[in-house]
Amino acid sequence: MPLDAMTVTIAELAGHRGETVTVAGWVVHHRSSGQIEFIVLRDGSGELQAVSRGETRTRLESRLAELTQETAVRVGGTVRPDPRSPGGIELEIDDVQIVGRSEGFPIGPKEHGIDFLMDHRHLWLRSRRQVALIKLRAAIIRSLRNFLDNNGFIVADPPVITPSAAEGSTTLFAIDYFDEPAYLSQSGQLYLEALAMALGRVYAFGPTFRAEKSKTRRHLTEFWMVEPEMAFCEFEENLVWQERLVEAVVQEVLRECPEELAVLERDLTRLRSVRAPFPRITYEEALALLEPRGLGVQWGEDLGAPHETALAEAFDRPVFLTHFPIELKAFYMQPDASNPRLALAADLLAPEGYGEIIGGSQRIHDLALLERRMADHGLDPERYRWYVDLRRYGSVPHSGFGVGLERLVAWIGGVEHVRETVPFPRTLTRLWP
Ligand code: 4AD
Ligand code: MG
Repeated sequence: MPLDAMTVTIAELAGHRGETVTVAGWVVHHRSSGQIEFIVLRDGSGELQAVSRGETRTRLESRLAELTQETAVRVGGTVRPDPRSPGGIELEIDDVQIVGRSEGFPIGPKEHGIDFLMDHRHLWLRSRRQVALIKLRAAIIRSLRNFLDNNGFIVADPPVITPSAAEGSTTLFAIDYFDEPAYLSQSGQLYLEALAMALGRVYAFGPTFRAEKSKTRRHLTEFWMVEPEMAFCEFEENLVWQERLVEAVVQEVLRECPEELAVLERDLTRLRSVRAPFPRITYEEALALLEPRGLGVQWGEDLGAPHETALAEAFDRPVFLTHFPIELKAFYMQPDASNPRLALAADLLAPEGYGEIIGGSQRIHDLALLERRMADHGLDPERYRWYVDLRRYGSVPHSGFGVGLERLVAWIGGVEHVRETVPFPRTLTRLWP
């Protein structure tokens, strides 16, 4: 039988029971058991057990012998129900064509160290767990976009090459822009503020860059961020948008990704309880909660990963940490009217030790106040002139936030380290592959 010109993906096979089809994929493993050969194939859409026996097996013997791990093949055969196989079906093989050979694939079923796997990231991506993670990431992106698109947010793309810092000068990646200093974007926020004054509700979704000297399970030097920004929006309303967005994403992923979450062995009960509203605690209340847990912090000091974990453990869903000392936060944040030493800022802490997944705030809309805060931070007014201009022409209270995609994926997927949540991670110690 000649192999069909049209291939069917493994995920589509359930709709082709009893038919003769051609599947194209890679060999996961291959074994013989008595008179039967079992070949497990993957094609990205799923995994399939193909079997060969009897006369066909004898006819194909020499080709079947070549099906080492990761050999690329086209296989023709008949789709049969088989309750013991993945997907409830198996393929009875008629013919096999080798498309690409594979000898000595470096990643086997035995345990490999993380450095070895990361050095072979280009091949490691083919494993079941990594495929599940990329699909989960894609579903989370889809869900974030759905929520924002359905709620009147216009996607607007800020530049990646920027002339000035958005989030503090210590984590800037400098580039040479035709003899003028320039930087890779740390956040699109400042540009989104301009766009919000044009469009009302906007968001950006793109890569951001931080020359972070932090070597932790939460830090990347290149990560993706979703950044909504809203005109005529004050602090409390900003929190409501955040909790509604996170609830919508988690609940949609629970519906859409049962297979991926199963591969990742995620505890779903923890995700099911992610329902808005989320609790809110102030920085001050956080210090009071931490003290008796042996994690005392002086007022004015920043909270680290152990503090965030301890705080999150006190709640069954994400928790907002609000009203930080203004010195700890960026220059653009609105001070609290009742206590100007506090910033109208919030971090959303994920449960289970995943730490801050969202950072957001109300922005200063008053011209004189913004100029004063920029002077306090030693910022060159010339480089922010366009940003300050926004306070000259119909300035309004506005707020926004940034969701760190990889941290969100790590938490929802129950993955220990953010390096597995992006196809090719960039960290303090890794630029390759
Ligand atoms: O808290 P951040 O620094 O906030 C901002 O950049 C704001 N300008 C966003 C805004 O209001 N439009 O970063 C936002 C989120 C963090 O909560 C975290 O989830 C993620 O981005 N993030 C990182 N993720 C991975 N690696 C890093 N080095 C990260 N730094 C921040
Ligand atoms: Mg932050």
